[in-house]
Amino acid sequence: MRENKVNTLITNSPLEAAQILLRGGLVIFPTETVYGIGASAFDEKACRKIYEVKNRPSDNPLILHVENIASLNACGEVDERAALVFRKFSPGPITGIFKKRNQHLFTAGLNTVAVRIPSNSTAREFLEACGVPVAAPSANVSGKPSLTKLEYILEEFSGKVDCILQGDDPRIGIESTVIDFTAEPPILLRPGFVDRKDLLLILPDLRGLESLSESAATAAPRSPGLKYRHYAPACKVVLKDSLKNAPKDAAQIGFETEFGSVFAISVSSNEEYMRLLYSFFVECDRRNIAEAWCQIPKEESGKEALLNRIQKAASK
Ligand code: TXA
Ligand code: MG
Repeated sequence: MRENKVNTLITNSPLEAAQILLRGGLVIFPTETVYGIGASAFDEKACRKIYEVKNRPSDNPLILHVENIASLNACGEVDERAALVFRKFSPGPITGIFKKRNQHLFTAGLNTVAVRIPSNSTAREFLEACGVPVAAPSANVSGKPSLTKLEYILEEFSGKVDCILQGDDPRIGIESTVIDFTAEPPILLRPGFVDRKDLLLILPDLRGLESLSESAATAAPRSPGLKYRHYAPACKVVLKDSLKNAPKDAAQIGFETEFGSVFAISVSSNEEYMRLLYSFFVECDRRNIAEAWCQIPKEESGKEALLNRIQKAASK
């Protein structure tokens, strides 16, 4: 954590937020997936402050955010296949890992760079006003769930960052799908809202991490973030077919929540499940719940991403 308390400006002006970022400040901004905590990717000192505020391990690199495909190309070596994927799913929740083109970008010592083009309108106005790639991991303390509501951001980060930019809260709720285009064939490093089956239509040879041996899958620099525990509330998380036998003092999220439970969030689709999962975790912590029961997602888009997040939360 940064030792000195800083003055946090709360604004809905992307221009004002961009000026703070360009002067070396940290700015939290909404994206369509989760909130991000950003610094200029050309400012190593500011990028290092992100690690302090998040208590993030220093070898876990940051995703850069840019406003269009031309800027994406200026950061990394985007080949034809990757361009196809980005033309189809961007702006939106998809991140590519590329060979780094611009050596001045901060990438935690790697010669590759992760880049995405968010679709949230406030994020887009902010990035345009910045005019530089913005390095931004999810705005949460390392190991804890990513944050998806302004209310949670104000509680956790007031006095720790220079600016909080207000806009629409994330509508997707879990982090972007990450594809490593430097591997041959490309590898799906992190499942997300953009589903594997839709990616396979464009990238028929896309592999999953399950196709690699465990040591290859966690080896640096392929995916430094994978070795860290993620997304977990303080309480015990369990994944269940049915919520029927949940103890009354367990919190529940799923399609058939039981009456009488201390805290329950009922969802009707995987999309709604994704949007609410992290706020469910945050609320479990706020209410000091001992156990959180999560129902297995539906056989539809989003199942792989949801399972990935819930299993990581359950594995601590
Ligand atoms: O939706 C998202 O992607 C959100 C919003 C804020 O954009 N950001 C996000 O960032 O989830 P973060 O830092 O929490 O997750 C980034 C992941 C980490 O697992 C990191 O290790 C991986 O991407 N990553 C970043 N750069 C990489 C690189 N050059 N090679 C391999 N993995 C990389
Ligand atoms: Mg994160």
